[in-house]
Amino acid sequence: MRERLEELRGEGLAAVEVASTEDDLREVEVGLLGRKGGITAALKALGKLPPEERPLIGQLANEVKVAIQGAIDVKRSTLGQAALSAELSGEGFDATLPGPALPGGGQHPIQAITRELEDLFLSMGFRIADGPEVELEENNFDALNIPTDHPARESHDTIWITPESQRQGDGRGVVLRTHTSPVQVRALREYGAPLRVVAPGRVFRQEALDATHEHTFHQMEGLVVDKGVGVGHMLHAMNTLIEGVMGRKLETRLRPGFFPFVEPGFELDARCPFCQDGCSVCKGSRWIELMPGGLVHPHVLESAGVDSSEYSGYAFGLGLSRIVMLRYGIDDIRWFMSGSLDFLRQFPA
Ligand code: PHE
Repeated sequence: MRERLEELRGEGLAAVEVASTEDDLREVEVGLLGRKGGITAALKALGKLPPEERPLIGQLANEVKVAIQGAIDVKRSTLGQAALSAELSGEGFDATLPGPALPGGGQHPIQAITRELEDLFLSMGFRIADGPEVELEENNFDALNIPTDHPARESHDTIWITPESQRQGDGRGVVLRTHTSPVQVRALREYGAPLRVVAPGRVFRQEALDATHEHTFHQMEGLVVDKGVGVGHMLHAMNTLIEGVMGRKLETRLRPGFFPFVEPGFELDARCPFCQDGCSVCKGSRWIELMPGGLVHPHVLESAGVDSSEYSGYAFGLGLSRIVMLRYGIDDIRWFMSGSLDFLRQFPA
């Protein structure tokens, strides 16, 4: 038995030595160490030896196995290295050729505008705030001066999390926020006055879907609270914003508008950037309704713990989806959530 093992060791090491390809190596490996290999057979036959011989022979068989496997491993890596350098030094191999191009990603146009506007407002000393998309009824409505029975609730076709049968009208119900205005309340409670914030984010409404109505869309809330803040400050911020998004100044005008959480409330219109004398975007009026806003209602300040005899403020609510549509001439709001790559690839990365 001992001689047989030594013989196998000699044969094996010699075979590894002369092997010149991976296939040769494989053959040695299977022939000796595989399931039907010589060494495997020797190990199996151990049981037939007299008990006193078993430990020594067993040890030897193992040594032979390890030695051969080790030689195979070394040779295998040598052969691999050699093959690689042959390939690298071979004719026609150009290590400086560019590799296959990876497809590059880009930003969603809403994300891109959000970042741009965040930078703009940061440069004017605002901070960026956000709030949860699943919001308390109290923050979405009550604290914004929209009590349970207020008709303004009906203009927000609310998607409720709390089922109708469990709504108590106590502000503890849970909704998908219908606008970014609840962040006004949250930011004021968290940071107090004076305060300058913008809060971009997704909002949700139960809409009949068409080219200008989507159940999920984007707004950016602006809020400034300080001593002596007035409509002139608001108008300046709104004009700066429009110039930032559209890349040039547009003539604007304020009309009265009603929102329970501002008083007075306004709608800001801008001159249609697409025509001189009426087109389909401005529906012939030469004005485009761009952004609601107003002076923060004292009830809102008070419900967020700010003394309304000392502080005043303005707020505006930019429809981000709408402004992106205007900027790029996008004709259907549903593109934004469509996930269409053909749509997304049109925007600069
Ligand atoms: N939150 C209002 C809406 O979505 C818009 C708004 C914001 C109006 C801030 C005034 C001030 O309808």
